[in-house]
Order: sequence, then structure tokens, then C-alpha cells
Amino acid sequence: MSEVDLYQLHYPVARHKLNRYLDAMAETVKSGKAKAVGVSNFNTELMKHAHEYFAKHNIRLASNQIGYNLLYRFPETNGMLAAYEELDVALIAILPLAEGVLTGKYRVGGDPYPSAMRTIALVTQLDIFKEGEPSPLMRRLFTKPYMLQREKLEPLFELMHGISKKYNATISQVSLNWLLASNPRVIPIPGEKNSKQAAANAATIS
Ligand SMILES: NC(=O)c1ccc[n+]([C@@H]2O[C@H](COP(=O)([O-])OP(=O)(O)OC[C@H]3O[C@@H](n4cnc5c(N)ncnc54)[C@H](OP(=O)(O)O)[C@@H]3O)[C@@H](O)[C@H]2O)c1
Repeated sequence: MSEVDLYQLHYPVARHKLNRYLDAMAETVKSGKAKAVGVSNFNTELMKHAHEYFAKHNIRLASNQIGYNLLYRFPETNGMLAAYEELDVALIAILPLAEGVLTGKYRVGGDPYPSAMRTIALVTQLDIFKEGEPSPLMRRLFTKPYMLQREKLEPLFELMHGISKKYNATISQVSLNWLLASNPRVIPIPGEKNSKQAAANAATIS
């Protein structure tokens, strides 16, 4: 029987059902079907709960997937990063390229934003998983998502362009390297549309 390396719960389920899900996940490790268990989109409180609950089964919570990138830095200020340190859990960083914005292709004079990106940018800004976005909800609802503010982001891209030239890299690689260098617990999982993108992203760690 082949083992799954990491068995993850994609979203937090309703609180009254959560422990039953965690029990079932723990069982996959005990029965040898999975090597490790992780969660996804859990805020600090839920991650601490999952960590404690798995500990009762003598199992470690290996990871929690959350949004973290150069343009989404709230985990640094809302207690999330500190909790990862305290619990010794890996932060699997989703949207590490901010849906492609951090590749630089949508900077001033660049490509138009794909329509789906507006929805994703707004959902990120609305903080539906309650990671602790500090500004009031109504302001976030009616503010153009910062991911889509090309002019405001341009100074960042100019700086990243300079760094990328210095190291013979791309802006995407600078973005991914920033995550990798920021904390040894952070594991970015960029999405790729083709093998060229996959090779370029993988080259960040070479
Ligand atoms: N746990 C969750 O709830 C959750 C939620 C969302 C995502 N995720 C996971 O997070 C991972 C990443 O998410 P994501 O793919 O949505 O966002 P992302 O990694 O921030 O952005 C990926 C997009 O950037 C572009 N790109 C990637 N590498 C590039 C390169 N080297 N050069 C130029 N463009 C490049 C591609 O889009 P274009 O070519 O179209 O520009 C690609 O689809 C995925 O594995 C996904 O499953 C998890």
C-alpha cells in the first residue's frame, strides 16, 4: 500500500464537526495510509486547536496552507507567523505569486488583468478566513484591491526589476525567493500553467 505524504484538510469545517474530521485524519496516520497531516485556511485559533487535538493522538500538525506573499503580509502582524513558530508548523504559502501579479506581467504598460483576478483579489482583501485584516470590512469592500493598483505597485516592481537584473533572475523568482528567505518554515507552492513556468519557478531553489 502506498502512503500519502501529506493528507490535508482543505477548509475548516463547521466547528461542531471539526474534531470528527481531525480524528479521521489522525486515523490515516495511525493506520499507515498517510505519513503526515496538515490543514488549510485555518486561522490562528483553529490552527492551535488542530495542533492540540492532534497532539492528543500523539500526532504532529505538519502544516497549514494560508495566503502569504510580498503583497499579502498580514501573517506577519496578526499573530499567524508567531503561532507557526510556537507550534513548529510549516507555513505552506498559497498564491505566492499573487495570481501572477508578482511576476510583473501586469505592471504599468503590461497585460490587462484577467477577469477572474478581480474576484480573487477582492476575496483576498475581504479576508473570508478571518486571518486578521486590520482595516474595516466596509472600507475593504469598496476599495480597489491593492493587487490591482498598478501605479501604486510600480515602485515595488522597479526595485524588484533591479534585484532581478543583479542576480540574473526574473521578477517571479525574486518574489518566490523573498518567501523562501523570509523564514525557513515557509514553503511556497506556486501554480504553473506550463512546463516553462514550472522550470523557472523550480530554478528559484537551485
Ligand atoms: N488552500 C487553498 O484554499 C488554496 C487556494 C488557492 C490556491 N491554492 C494553491 O496555491 C497554489 C498556487 O496558487 P495559484 O496558482 O492560484 O497562484 P500563484 O502561484 O500566486 O500564481 C500562479 C499563476 O502565476 C502565473 N505564473 C506562475 N509561474 C510563472 C512564471 N514563472 N512566469 C510567469 N507567470 C507565472 C501563472 O498564470 P498565467 O500564466 O495565467 O499568468 C500561474 O497560474 C496552487 O497549488 C493552488 O492549488 C490553495
